[in-house]
Amino acid sequence: MSKILFNIPYKLKNFRKFKSLETFAGNGYWTKSVQKKLERKYFFKKVLLTDSCTSALEISALSLKLKKNEEVIIPSYAYPTTASAFLRCGYKIKFVDCNANDPRINHSHFLKVLNKNTKAVVIVHHAGQPEDINFFLKLKKKYKFKIIEDAAQCIDLKVGKKYLGSYGDFGCISFHESKNLHSGLGGAVIINNMDYSETAHYVWERGTNRRDFDKKRISKYTWIEVGSNFYPSEFQALYLYYQLQDISKIQKKRKEIFNLYVSNLNNLILSNKIMGMNTKLKSNYHMKYILLKNRKERNQIKKYLEKKGIHTVSHYEPLHLSKVGKKISVKNLKNSKNFSDRILRLPLHVYLSKKNIKFVCKSIENYFLA
Ligand SMILES: Cc1ncc(COP(=O)(O)O)c(C=O)c1O
Repeated sequence: MSKILFNIPYKLKNFRKFKSLETFAGNGYWTKSVQKKLERKYFFKKVLLTDSCTSALEISALSLKLKKNEEVIIPSYAYPTTASAFLRCGYKIKFVDCNANDPRINHSHFLKVLNKNTKAVVIVHHAGQPEDINFFLKLKKKYKFKIIEDAAQCIDLKVGKKYLGSYGDFGCISFHESKNLHSGLGGAVIINNMDYSETAHYVWERGTNRRDFDKKRISKYTWIEVGSNFYPSEFQALYLYYQLQDISKIQKKRKEIFNLYVSNLNNLILSNKIMGMNTKLKSNYHMKYILLKNRKERNQIKKYLEKKGIHTVSHYEPLHLSKVGKKISVKNLKNSKNFSDRILRLPLHVYLSKKNIKFVCKSIENYFLA
């Protein structure tokens, strides 16, 4: 049997549209078309396409303009750039723990960390499933903090009346090749709080007011914000445009695979050999993971599957225990460490056959029989 890869990025068939490119550098016809398409399809107020979710987070952080020591709460169980975007602006980072068996923020720990100096909260929609948005929206009313949704993995997921990414002041999405939709590298910042609309746009465009120059409002564009070169090339935007055309097809396939995993892993879950994802939460079918007893068992099973040609991967290492994170605050966030130790992500991509999914599940079963 050939290797079962963890991810194979979705490929557009016979893609020759690059010939139609007239401009290449970015912020051209295709960038604007994708932005419009995302705004219309998901009812996002304003979208700026970026070269990564990391850039989307950085635009959010720079646009917030908090004072140096104002605090931002960030989950420890998250991606490094979820935190570094805010750290490099000089903000004070406070890490928060997750729940014991799910990666969402632990409410009671959050309430301990929250204080008068909290000016922003980053919530991460993990593994294609939503954070408990209402909990944070209620507290936002009282404490007046801003919310940044790190929805890197959560394109195309409607929760309640809105799509993820449209609940916070900012939403950040990734179009990295590991995501349901991709442009190699890529991302988008969604601006829902229009007070930040102008600033975010200037930050996005290298910190200049080139936008006003293009609209002939000024005769020369200059440096007016601390920004960077955050947008993607037209190559990426064009590729993303046609991936978006295929989104229903992609999601349908990923859903089939996800559900097949659910039914084939059910016995192992019922017999308490493994834990599964929270089935009460909706999913955009980005990820399928299982939880093992501890890091030792997780690593053993990973090795066992590798020998059978099945490529599985772990996930984030807790930020508070990382080299940089330790300098921010020394805390014992047990759940984040524990969750990171136990998680194993299974192959999930549109080219995965039913036979291979069954083989993956059977192999996990066999591990426990051995
Ligand atoms: C939660 C989260 N935020 C941010 C990122 C960074 O995304 P990108 O690679 O598009 O910068 C990732 C990467 O997967 C992620 O999982």
